[in-house]
Amino acid sequence: MTYRCEGEIPVLGGERVKLRRLSSKDAEAMYRNWSDPEVRRYSDLPEMPDVSAAGEMIRILNSLSQTDDGLRWGIEDADGRLIGSCGLNWWQLEGAYRGEIGCELARPFWGKGYMREAVELVLDYAFEDMGLNRIEALTDPRNIRAGRLFESLGFTLEGRLRQYRQTDSGFVDANMYALLREEWEDAK
Ligand SMILES: CC(C)(COP(=O)(O)OP(=O)(O)OC[C@H]1O[C@@H](n2cnc3c(N)ncnc32)[C@H](O)[C@@H]1OP(=O)(O)O)[C@@H](O)C(=O)NCCC(=O)NCCS
Repeated sequence: MTYRCEGEIPVLGGERVKLRRLSSKDAEAMYRNWSDPEVRRYSDLPEMPDVSAAGEMIRILNSLSQTDDGLRWGIEDADGRLIGSCGLNWWQLEGAYRGEIGCELARPFWGKGYMREAVELVLDYAFEDMGLNRIEALTDPRNIRAGRLFESLGFTLEGRLRQYRQTDSGFVDANMYALLREEWEDAK
């Protein structure tokens, strides 16, 4: 067990997106994103009553990276606009070597392949730099876009976890998608 982030979230550069640490300056953009009912529809994001709640969420996400309990990047497009965020909600080395991916994109940027590129950067980092062996993604079965995203990246749908999450609308099922390091390497 060697990897330690301890708050030093690295910049990851792709062709069209850049992943970097979120800061309090991003609160306004993330508030618009996190409070959009379409972005929230299948997520378990807490209520976002105002911009300060988004600022608090950014603070919490950054503190998780300090204790190595999670890792979240902001996603910038080529014009430097913050268009979403992604990362590992949870990860563990010894005893499992796995992590769970989470992501959301602002609605105007859906359908352009930005998240696919962002998740590819996270996967490279998770498998190669962090040394993880298995990345999971838990999606609401009604969330067709999220299912397509993970299938297009080579994840396998391993099954449906019944009433896995409690949300404002009651208990909901979750699809368990997973990608193994050997599958990621073979696909490259
Ligand atoms: C899940 C979510 C990130 C998917 O967004 P998305 O825009 O569909 O995903 P991508 O950015 O990878 O874009 C893929 C689409 O862009 C298209 N596309 C256009 N140009 C492209 C390019 N240059 N490269 C790749 N794909 C491209 C693809 O064909 C695909 O279109 P399709 O949806 O019609 O099949 C988004 O719907 C979202 O934020 N939802 C709310 C939060 C959420 O559900 N998060 C997931 C929980 S784990």
